[in-house]
Amino acid sequence: MKKGLLLLSMLTLASGYGQKKKEDKTQKIKPKAEFVADLMSKMTVDEKIYQLVQFTSDGTVTGPKSGDNYITRIQQGKVGSVLNATGAANNRMIQKIAVENSRLKIPLLFGHDVIHGYKTIFPINLGMASSFDPSAVEKAARIAAIEASAGGIQWTFAPMVDIARDPRWGRVSEGSGEDVFLGSKLAVANVRGFQGDDLSKNNTILACAKHFAAYGAAEAGRDYNTTDMSERVLRDTYLPPFQAAVDAGVKTFMASFNEISGVPSTANKHLLRDVLKGEWKFDGMVVSDYTGVNEMIAHGFAKDDQDAAQLALNAGMDMDMVGATFMNTLKKSYDEGKVSIEVINDACKRVLDVKYDLGLFEDPYRYFDEKREKENTYKPEFLDAALDVAKKSLVLLKNKNNVLPLKKDQKIAFVGPLVSDEFNIIGSWAALGERDGRAVSVKEGVMNVLGNSGKVTFDNGVEITGTKRDMMQAALNNAKNADVIVAVMGERENQTGEAGSQTNIDLPGLQKEFLAELKKLGKPVVLVLMNGRPLTLSWEDENMDAILETWWSGTRGGDAIAQTLFGDNNPNGKLPISFPRNVGQVPIYYNHKNTGRPYLGLSDPEQKYKSRYTDVDNSPLYAFGYGLSYTKFDYSNMKLSSEKIGFGQKVKISVDVKNTGNYDGDEVVQLYVKDVVGSVTRPVRELKGFEKISLKKGEMKTVTFEISSDDLKFYNINMQNTAEAGDFEVFVGGNSDASLNGKFELVK
Ligand code: GLC
Repeated sequence: MKKGLLLLSMLTLASGYGQKKKEDKTQKIKPKAEFVADLMSKMTVDEKIYQLVQFTSDGTVTGPKSGDNYITRIQQGKVGSVLNATGAANNRMIQKIAVENSRLKIPLLFGHDVIHGYKTIFPINLGMASSFDPSAVEKAARIAAIEASAGGIQWTFAPMVDIARDPRWGRVSEGSGEDVFLGSKLAVANVRGFQGDDLSKNNTILACAKHFAAYGAAEAGRDYNTTDMSERVLRDTYLPPFQAAVDAGVKTFMASFNEISGVPSTANKHLLRDVLKGEWKFDGMVVSDYTGVNEMIAHGFAKDDQDAAQLALNAGMDMDMVGATFMNTLKKSYDEGKVSIEVINDACKRVLDVKYDLGLFEDPYRYFDEKREKENTYKPEFLDAALDVAKKSLVLLKNKNNVLPLKKDQKIAFVGPLVSDEFNIIGSWAALGERDGRAVSVKEGVMNVLGNSGKVTFDNGVEITGTKRDMMQAALNNAKNADVIVAVMGERENQTGEAGSQTNIDLPGLQKEFLAELKKLGKPVVLVLMNGRPLTLSWEDENMDAILETWWSGTRGGDAIAQTLFGDNNPNGKLPISFPRNVGQVPIYYNHKNTGRPYLGLSDPEQKYKSRYTDVDNSPLYAFGYGLSYTKFDYSNMKLSSEKIGFGQKVKISVDVKNTGNYDGDEVVQLYVKDVVGSVTRPVRELKGFEKISLKKGEMKTVTFEISSDDLKFYNINMQNTAEAGDFEVFVGGNSDASLNGKFELVK
């Protein structure tokens, strides 16, 4: 038994928890402001500082090891919050130690990374972003909150809302991709899902907008690396999803590890005090990332832990995750006049406020009911929701000669290192999601669809990243007798996520070589991808007959994939991030600037002196917003309600969308707007609306968007966040290359 747990058990017995006695009843307490002020009036400076201290449990570390005597520190009343401790019974024991051993009986706040599910795991967030369905994302967060809160958690370190345009950075998997508009909508959906409409309910949890800020802009896509940008890029591109989270009522933020233009976010006063707590009036609490305070020494921004701690607290950081710098040094800094009681009080109040909001003062044990935990885990409706969201997150990238959907009577060779995988399929940051034995693999999903009637074989052929060739021939032997080959390939889940940066984003190992051998058999080959980042797939796009992007699709992933392959589900996801032709194009994103010498492609009469590469086209292999269907959608008849609008007025843009194919299907109709001339240069186009619609075959619907001057704001030459009069072009279609267009003028 782990040392920590043994100690915990001894303390528990000592504390008399062993006897089943009635726990504290919920008690009526004063209104928040009064209660917190009363409590703080009784607290010593030390006790206020200890509320700003968070430690990780023994069980899981999600960063550099930090020492594991956190129980002793809880006993001494030196801890305000614990991360990575899970389970109703386990966390009740820990809470009991805190409440019964601390002078003022202040309950602990239990946090965990509930990123895309707690036990029932949903697709990774980049996968859920592919659904372009905020209601689906909200549902996933709601279910995650129900399971997590029943499991003793009151705080998730999610949503990750970092805009990311560099697939070398492994953490693209955790966010909503490259676009501000989509990222902001999904930030709101996640906050609403996690926090619900009342944090005092015991099935809602604090959300945490992270990583504040610009973490996804890491130079060269290398995790934790420097970011350096203009205030305008910061405000136009990286801050909006965080502001959307604040507007949605998010109660906590997490600072990012990176520096922004020389100042680490952890002690970035401009970011934390001027913008977040000042301009945006954020009244919640800011936690550092894991030992982020200590790391300012390595940044060269602080001399030692005490320096780092006082810089962070004075800049607006309210809680120190794991680093122990606040615990060990803030009282000394206070005695030396380096931090004021006002700053300590503000941080302590913010922590106590969220504990009050959660109802922890009324009943410190309200989240630790083992019966409720059992009843609210893996409920059938949760697993069905995981299947539903997974089906919405799959993106069909290619389908030559309609090789998909497969027919159930075909002889099919399923091959590839992920064909029977139940481990990687739930992705990284999968909290307490069970892998082998619980997650549904593609193989299991196929058997669920076909029963015993299928004429199918399953062979790994190669490893994900290994170099063993001994299984390849057996797989090829089966494949050559098939009508069609389905290759299930991709990455290991830990090749993306935190500390998962790579310079090579090809299919790893011998997978491409195996595909080439399969291709030689002269059969149609369907490539099913499981990956956490855009991969470079130019060869695959050239040589495969169909490509289905499934990301890491979660506990029911295998069912979603199989039902899609056999046509029981018509794929309807769209890419939330561009796929480069090769890594040399990175960073690549759709809402780029035009430059003074834009390259117009092969038709461009001037091929030399243009902003282009001489060895590859400028365009991505697959564009933002791109995704095919088993059916076809035609766009026509764009109409604008007026050619001119004034400030504060709206223009309606409508188009007809018709399902002209042979399958019922869903389509994400997308609206892009181009600000033709600005006081600063503007992107070639920006997503300003999307709507996912269902159309039966032959059916047509009119989709209408509304645009007002507020939707056209940006930071102008004077750093004012405003729209500017002038011409605007609009484009509507099924991806960011949409060509159906119109225009209007915004007039003073
Ligand atoms: C990690 C991650 C952060 C996570 C935290 C707690 O280092 O950067 O996203 O929430 O530590 O696990």
